[in-house]
Amino acid sequence: MNSTETKMPLRNRQWIYRTRPEGVVSSEHYKLVETPIDPMPAAQELIVRAHFISVDPYMRIQQAARNTWEEPHPLGIVQRAGVVAQVIAAGADVTGFAPGDFVLTYTGWQELARCHPLEVTKLDPDLAPVSTALGVLGMPGRTAWFGLMEAGRPKPGETVVVSGTAGAVGSLVVQFAKRAGCRVVGIAGGKEKCDFVRARLGAHEAVDYRRFGPNDWREFSAELARVCGGESRVDVYFDNVGGLTTDGVLPQLALRARIVICGQISQYGGGLDERRRGRGFCNIFSFNAPTFKACSRATSLRAWPSTCDSPRPGCDPESSSSRKRSWTASSNCPARWNVCSRARVAARCLSASRSNFLNEAW
Ligand SMILES: NC(=O)c1ccc[n+]([C@@H]2O[C@H](COP(=O)([O-])OP(=O)(O)OC[C@H]3O[C@@H](n4cnc5c(N)ncnc54)[C@H](OP(=O)(O)O)[C@@H]3O)[C@@H](O)[C@H]2O)c1
Repeated sequence: MNSTETKMPLRNRQWIYRTRPEGVVSSEHYKLVETPIDPMPAAQELIVRAHFISVDPYMRIQQAARNTWEEPHPLGIVQRAGVVAQVIAAGADVTGFAPGDFVLTYTGWQELARCHPLEVTKLDPDLAPVSTALGVLGMPGRTAWFGLMEAGRPKPGETVVVSGTAGAVGSLVVQFAKRAGCRVVGIAGGKEKCDFVRARLGAHEAVDYRRFGPNDWREFSAELARVCGGESRVDVYFDNVGGLTTDGVLPQLALRARIVICGQISQYGGGLDERRRGRGFCNIFSFNAPTFKACSRATSLRAWPSTCDSPRPGCDPESSSSRKRSWTASSNCPARWNVCSRARVAARCLSASRSNFLNEAW
């Protein structure tokens, strides 16, 4: 055995996922346990010590009691999560790994873990700080890059709006969009975050959604139009948030806009458990993972009844006057109606399966 630590039993600390949250998750849904761990690795086994442990929004989705895009996270086990760890012991027959090596694993919220060499990816600390394996060079980075570049397809000069801009994914989308030559508008909560989004991330504008009340999506939408330089100027909407924020962005979509439905974090504290109750339509799409497109004036009329289940009263999708009305008089229309009637939208859900695809494609 190769080891950097003693042969005395080591103490492990583990966060056990104990009960399912109804709303916001907190420490009461977890239990911290200390257990001894044998420092001797078995054949084909590594013992690793965690250095960086991720806390990601998808974990809250997995805490739902019923299947969402994945099976519910079981109760009574260590909270699953991505981890950057260091090998402290390797079984004698293990090749390719030695104590001191940094690895990316999925061993969850615990200090020590035993794993098979096939379950870890070796990291090179000379290439980049190892913590980036959970950020810009890891899952959030891939999500931001492929989500924006493949699903959003930004073109120089276009306006890209990003919700959840100050977060792991959003902060990268802003920077990628700027490098793609776009005008970038971020949406974040609070002045400090908006300053960060402009000054550090380089967004051209930032809107503080917290300045608007829960029913003020029209006012929020008007403010967004102002910073975008006019109405209906949003060419790409990269959505991390959903809910009221998305309700406010949709009326500002330009013709042939693209929506990247990356996440719906505003709904995770309960809205996704009862998704029909969740505000905004994108959370439904984020579960059903459709690709819908060709909803333009010219090509989408036959698709309206199935894609727009509640058109504005008095609007008949088949009538040309309604068509014209919904095409032009946008700001009073429900968001769903706007999407289908005003913009050619290719909305791509970055669902779990897409995420897996991205992992493979990286
Ligand atoms: N599809 C995929 O493969 C994939 C992969 C990774 C992430 N995602 C999704 O991408 C989104 C962002 O993930 P992340 O890793 O960047 O998360 P993060 O670093 O935790 O950031 C999330 C951001 O969301 C904002 N937020 C939280 N609650 C909100 C609410 N109720 N209304 C509006 N904004 C809210 C917060 O900013 P404020 O303080 O400004 O509100 C925070 O900065 C999540 O929806 C996540 O599920 C999807």
